[in-house]
Amino acid sequence: MANRDLFDVCKKYKDPELVKSFNLYPFFKSLSASDGPVVEYDGREIVMLGSNNYLGLTHHPRVMKAAHDALERFGTGCTGSRFLNGNLSLHEQLEQELAEFTGKDDALVFSSGFLANSGALSCLGSIKGAVVFSEAENHGSIIDGVRLAKGETRVFDDLDHLEQLMSDGDPDGEGWAHALVVSDAVFSMTGRVMDVKRLAELRRRFGFKLYLDDAHGLGVLGPQGRGTAAHYGVMDDIDVLFGTFSKSFASLGGFVAGDKDVINYLRHHARTVIFSAGLPPASVAAALESLRVMQEEPEIFERLWDNVEYFRNGLHDIGFDTMGSWTPILPLYVGPESIAFRFVKDALDMGVFATPVIYPAQPYQQALIRTSVTPSLTRDHLDKALDVLRVLHRQLSRHTKLK
Ligand SMILES: Cc1ncc(COP(=O)(O)O)c(C=O)c1O
Repeated sequence: MANRDLFDVCKKYKDPELVKSFNLYPFFKSLSASDGPVVEYDGREIVMLGSNNYLGLTHHPRVMKAAHDALERFGTGCTGSRFLNGNLSLHEQLEQELAEFTGKDDALVFSSGFLANSGALSCLGSIKGAVVFSEAENHGSIIDGVRLAKGETRVFDDLDHLEQLMSDGDPDGEGWAHALVVSDAVFSMTGRVMDVKRLAELRRRFGFKLYLDDAHGLGVLGPQGRGTAAHYGVMDDIDVLFGTFSKSFASLGGFVAGDKDVINYLRHHARTVIFSAGLPPASVAAALESLRVMQEEPEIFERLWDNVEYFRNGLHDIGFDTMGSWTPILPLYVGPESIAFRFVKDALDMGVFATPVIYPAQPYQQALIRTSVTPSLTRDHLDKALDVLRVLHRQLSRHTKLK
């Protein structure tokens, strides 16, 4: 039955209050300061294990200076769409260097990663005759972009399923040049890495276009952080490469890179470019300087991978199942949602910030704790975190069957 008053649903929505009444509410934690690896919460210093700051560049002197300089030169905001009054030389410089970095013809910068995915996919998926195939666990910005697309859309569970859909759906062998296959490269909650090599082989066999969201792989995997496709040596098979600046690039914003005609089409049709204000100067400059740091300071990657190995080994010694992740995202399987809430609360009380991954991001009652490692965490930080996690593992294994 329809609601008599539209807002009745809102008034009756009390789930957060219920969790708060147990003092277990884990969301919207208000941080009052940050130096990257350590944040201030409730007047205390907390080791941050919950960020996407994979290269620790949010506080890198070069990146901070570039942001300051841009602020001085251009002011605080673009006050309009790039399409009209808000396009800066800095946006175009960033696009040019991103195109070079990814080995693509051109790139287009959007004001967030979410806007890049939702704008690019809704646009490409609305081209007459388009069919979009989207991986079942893709990020919400992909799901929404695909939902907005006017063409046909299908969801595939894994690459066997995609292969089957492609074979069964084309009995006459006409090919799939009108299809766009979209997938995350690194899944944000579990660190699962898509087999992009096989995806590239399927592309060659079936002739579809391939859109890869490498939000968590760019700046992390591959030489100089050139991403998951570069790691697998199949960058030329990616028709549209998506990246975001909100993780390794230490900023805000997102981009797609690809063939010049495709990028030009998006530049003039993607509604999230045309009807949304341009990325602010300081954010553009921070992303641009991060991109340069990635290419000029290889020791950052050495520190990152040293830390990932050290922390992952420590977690395994404690007895945690990290679900096979070999990326800086290290999930800890805990099971029931209530246990996940208790876990992050106790961790925070003991000085460690980690995030719960609950339904619908994970199947119901198969909650995870997401931890992630950055190069700016010192051995002391990691040891402190491991000490806390050891205590929590001991406590929780009494209440639940940790995998
Ligand atoms: C896989 C993936 N794609 C896209 C996005 C959206 O990026 P942003 O947060 O920069 O808008 C995210 C970030 O949560 C992500 O994890």
